[in-house]
Amino acid sequence: MTKLKMGIIGVGGIAQQRHIPAFLQLQEKIELIAVHDVNESRAREVAEEYGIEHVVTDYHEMFRYVDAVTICTPNKYHAEISIAALDAGVHVLCEKPMAMTTKEAEAMVEAAERTGKVLAIAYHYRHMKESQAAKRAMVTGEVGAPLVTRVQALRRRKVPGWGVFTNKDLQGGGSLIDYGCHLLDLSLWLLDGPKPVEVMGKTYNQLSKQPNQINEWGTFDHETFEVDDHVTSYITFADGSSLLFECSWAANIQEDVSHVSLSGTVGGLNVFPYELYQTKGNALVTTRADQIIDEDDPDIPQAENFIDACLGEAELVVKPEEALRVTRIIEAIYESSQTGKSVRLNERGGRQ
Ligand SMILES: NC(=O)c1ccc[n+]([C@@H]2O[C@H](COP(=O)([O-])OP(=O)(O)OC[C@H]3O[C@@H](n4cnc5c(N)ncnc54)[C@H](O)[C@@H]3O)[C@@H](O)[C@H]2O)c1
Repeated sequence: MTKLKMGIIGVGGIAQQRHIPAFLQLQEKIELIAVHDVNESRAREVAEEYGIEHVVTDYHEMFRYVDAVTICTPNKYHAEISIAALDAGVHVLCEKPMAMTTKEAEAMVEAAERTGKVLAIAYHYRHMKESQAAKRAMVTGEVGAPLVTRVQALRRRKVPGWGVFTNKDLQGGGSLIDYGCHLLDLSLWLLDGPKPVEVMGKTYNQLSKQPNQINEWGTFDHETFEVDDHVTSYITFADGSSLLFECSWAANIQEDVSHVSLSGTVGGLNVFPYELYQTKGNALVTTRADQIIDEDDPDIPQAENFIDACLGEAELVVKPEEALRVTRIIEAIYESSQTGKSVRLNERGGRQ
């Protein structure tokens, strides 16, 4: 079998922690042959450490000899580099969030459709075993029609202190676009992509501006902190269901919370840990999945799904048009917070 030739653009934290180790375990299907980073010395160090042959100084050059790339740059460059790769005939796995704005994300979807190349977005929560079990329960009707979804993506003192995560121009936002996006995407996928009708949102950033706050994930400049560190939202959908959302990097809570639960017409479920709640007679029956945590989960399944989709052997788990709807809602939450009014969306999920 011909192996897929792969490259990585942006070889910082997530490339080294998640993508490179996963791809190196899948060498029967791929060859990781090239890296690029604006920090050339970092690119050289990473290439040497992982035995990657080529370091390129211009990412366009990489497109001449790879079949697929993974994009792990700050959010500002996701759209530009993805579209350039797709136009050069190269498949793309782009880190989350898909892009900083709806306009950019729409251009990415359009480029994937125009070129016929694979565009996947690294919403890796979908590849977790718990999420997969929850999706199966939704698809087989164990919950019935969804009524209310509750999402909490809360960290107590974990503003990312590396990279450019607190720079609005380079990231497009803070805790919502960086962390909340994961559980928002997971929820919309479990709900089978309902059409959002109205989005209300409120963002905060007071806590991270206080210089005496401890931060567990490195240091950042409290004075120039300009993005959200805590966000709430209420979203209603055309099918009549609603979603209560909260995310934070730095909340005054006892401990971190990663929560997605759903109540439907027939039953309910909790994703982390996975539990299904149903009523038999008058009794509550709870079904738990034993030990569904897996060490490789979710890095290998994510990488493998992308590779198999590129090889035409699998359907993508995270499709670009699904990631686009997450970006639309994020944008609506930011807009609602800024204007103090709810945002009404049209049939296509765009602005009314
Ligand atoms: N899936 C997840 O849970 C997860 C976790 C962390 C980060 N991420 C995403 O991954 C991306 C990178 O985050 P990170 O933590 O690795 O940050 P990082 O700062 O550690 O790494 C980013 C790298 O990109 C390089 N870079 C910057 N601009 C570039 C450009 N224009 N072209 C090429 N290289 C460029 C930087 O030099 C750096 O090496 C972000 O979009 C972030 O949202 C996802």
